[in-house]
Amino acid sequence: MHTIQADFDRIARLEDLRWNHNRHYHPFLLRQLPSRLVEALDVGCGQGDFARLLALRAERVLAIDLSPEMIQRAKEQSAQHPNIRYQVTDVMAWEWPTDQYDCIVSIATLHHLSLADVLIHMKDALKPGGTLLVLDLFHQDGVTLRDFIAVVASASLKFLKNGRLREPAALRAAWGAHAKHDHYLPLSEIREICASILPGACVQQHLLWRYSIVWKKP
Ligand SMILES: C[S@@+](CC[C@H](N)C(=O)[O-])C[C@H]1O[C@@H](n2cnc3c(N)ncnc32)[C@H](O)[C@@H]1O
Repeated sequence: MHTIQADFDRIARLEDLRWNHNRHYHPFLLRQLPSRLVEALDVGCGQGDFARLLALRAERVLAIDLSPEMIQRAKEQSAQHPNIRYQVTDVMAWEWPTDQYDCIVSIATLHHLSLADVLIHMKDALKPGGTLLVLDLFHQDGVTLRDFIAVVASASLKFLKNGRLREPAALRAAWGAHAKHDHYLPLSEIREICASILPGACVQQHLLWRYSIVWKKP
């Protein structure tokens, strides 16, 4: 955890919020939610860009992250959103509440954790009728035609939205160093874990090397 925290403290100091593969799926995630929420939780909120979107439809948002630098940057950008509470927390050591949230979201974070353990916590912390949303990366063997299409789509969108194809060198180096500590599960294993913990969950593969989980608690 210390290494992951240090990686994201470093990334937080370098990264500005522009279009990226996670942000590309924010509209998809928002479409899974009702228009009004009372309590929402963002696990691994980073600089808080999705927490700020949640804050537009939730009365209260708790946004937690392991990295103090990420939380600092998130707070700096959230002055217009007094209904977001940011907290530096390791979710694996957190005392999760029960039946608390109308919505729990986690973006590009669960691959740092034990997926089964964290899904059980999330399931318990959701209110009946609440929605769980996960967007994350997965392990893939080999390259397919789909990857070729994804590379073209990704490069085109990056250039259109950000006006450049490559990130600055210091940020690329920070992500490169972090990638050595990343570990992704294959989609087949993710589907098995979801089937046993979240019956009826919709696990979907997306073009830009992401999968999503959408689950409503009965
Ligand atoms: C790739 S970033 C994604 C951030 C944000 N969700 C986004 O979409 O921009 C992953 C985040 O997960 C956080 N994280 C990793 N392990 C964590 C843990 N055990 N508890 C809380 N946050 C964690 C990291 O600090 C980092 O900010």
